Amino acid sequence: MARIAYVDGRYLPIHAATVSVEDRGFQFADGIYEVVKRIGGRLIDADRHLARLRRSLAALRIDLPVSDAALHRIVRETISRNALADALVYLQVSRGTAPRNHPFPAGTRPSLVVTVRRLKLPTSAERRQGCGVITHPDERWARCDIKSTGLLANVLAKQAAQEAGCREAWLVASGPEGEVVTEGSSTNAWIVDEHSVLRTHPATQRILGGVTRSVVLEHAQELGIPLEERAFSLAELARAREAFLTSATSLVLPVTSVDGRPVANGMPGDTTRRLMDRYAAHCGLPAEVAAQG
Ligand code: PDD
Repeated sequence: MARIAYVDGRYLPIHAATVSVEDRGFQFADGIYEVVKRIGGRLIDADRHLARLRRSLAALRIDLPVSDAALHRIVRETISRNALADALVYLQVSRGTAPRNHPFPAGTRPSLVVTVRRLKLPTSAERRQGCGVITHPDERWARCDIKSTGLLANVLAKQAAQEAGCREAWLVASGPEGEVVTEGSSTNAWIVDEHSVLRTHPATQRILGGVTRSVVLEHAQELGIPLEERAFSLAELARAREAFLTSATSLVLPVTSVDGRPVANGMPGDTTRRLMDRYAAHCGLPAEVAAQG
């Protein structure tokens, strides 16, 4: 069965689902997106994803071309037409189609695209063994809090990771505190530092405030895990007791090597496991799926 996509009011087979060459998303990356997962018939953290979609749109002064209720209907309909129980839903809104010119066009209706695909969660081996990351310069713009479709620096970083045989690239930027890890190319980055404090970069304009990140922060608080939203340096990463990454599709995933060197003993740590289990439960997945596979 061909996949079906929603494009500006129409449901079309994916090969026929196209936007204009003058769509500003194509010409300027003048648009934003969201990625939401559906597990067991439930969209996970739909409200938080919708709130972030709205924040990204507001930052770019793009109007959502449909109401929230209509958006929910479109998402439900696209999922049902693709007959997927567990799915990854991708929403994209661009400023719309107009003759190419940098300033905002007047009276142009933003375009909305919704696609869904099969949800691919980390394998049990990946969850048990953890994954490797490389470090890579953070070459992105200064508004990483906006979930922009302009992802060239992220694409280059992810490609470098893949060429090094790693799942992710952790991006390194220099700031007042020296060289720090901001986040991954499509995930948030965490360590348990040498003092057993859980650390992740604060939700500033230098990172995308992940929905998974916000949920895991709440779980860490509930579990009484010492926690600081404070950037960690490369030196602190080298001394870390544990490391992991989070995203809608990676869930909580242990990071067991950085640039080919093991994190601590090279095995997922206890805090990571507890947060993996807790987040799996949040998604309606059995905890042992996360912990043991
Ligand atoms: N990526 N940081 C960046 C740069 C991201 O692109 C993402 C999400 C995250 C994690 O956010 P969340 O927990 O809300 O998934 C952090 C999505 C999944 C993507 O680009 O496909």
